[in-house]
Amino acid sequence: MEYTDQGQGTPLLLIHGFPHDRSLWQPQLDGLPDVARMIAPDLSGFGASGAALDTMSMDDYATDLKDLLDKLDIKQAVVCGLSMGGYIALAFHARYPDAVKGLILCNTRATPDNDEARAGRAVTAENVEKAGSAPLAEAMLPKMLTAATITTQPAIAAATKYMMARQPPAGIVAALRGIAARPDRTPQLATIRVPTLIITGTADTAIPPSESEAMAKAIPGSNLLVIPDVAHLSNVEAPRVFNDAVRGFLKGLH
Ligand code: MLT
Repeated sequence: MEYTDQGQGTPLLLIHGFPHDRSLWQPQLDGLPDVARMIAPDLSGFGASGAALDTMSMDDYATDLKDLLDKLDIKQAVVCGLSMGGYIALAFHARYPDAVKGLILCNTRATPDNDEARAGRAVTAENVEKAGSAPLAEAMLPKMLTAATITTQPAIAAATKYMMARQPPAGIVAALRGIAARPDRTPQLATIRVPTLIITGTADTAIPPSESEAMAKAIPGSNLLVIPDVAHLSNVEAPRVFNDAVRGFLKGLH
């Protein structure tokens, strides 16, 4: 598994979403090196990390991440995941609660796919197998960023689209199968005993902010930050607000 290990301070595991790679976290790698030792992997089948299984369950990714922390001799980390990364963060917490110092759940949800969403994943997987990743990247871009960001920040829009378009079809398909099969994590939320920060944007249409609000209600003592006029990639669209929140959260752990 390929990864970036950068900065000094509290170990912070940064788990990218679908269909992303660790470059998603560039604004955090640039903005937080004085407060966190950031471990940003490419999940199996994405970025520079090798082939995935045919299906990658959220538990499979979580196991890979625990192996990585073990290899780096990190006993406990703040686990931060965006969207699919949040599904994986919750799977990681369920399997390895003692390895979690805190949770940052960004633009994600605890609820599983319904039948319609599962059927949609199967169609997407077929399309990616037939036509490759570029059409998926094109279709997903308007869900990742607001129309305003796409218009006024073309470099960010292009980098985001390219990040998705370059992901290997096999990794995308394996992730889609795993995402579709993920369990309902709602019952787990009340058992979370570590400090938890939940971040989303008012304009997230991929995962509506109501999902974040529900998690915030269910996780004891958690804090919710809803960033105005920001879509699915809140860490990319509002890096300063996002980084300030993470900085404050990390400081509060000591
Ligand atoms: C993500 O950004 O990881 C995806 O939107 C997750 C999903 O499709 O459920």
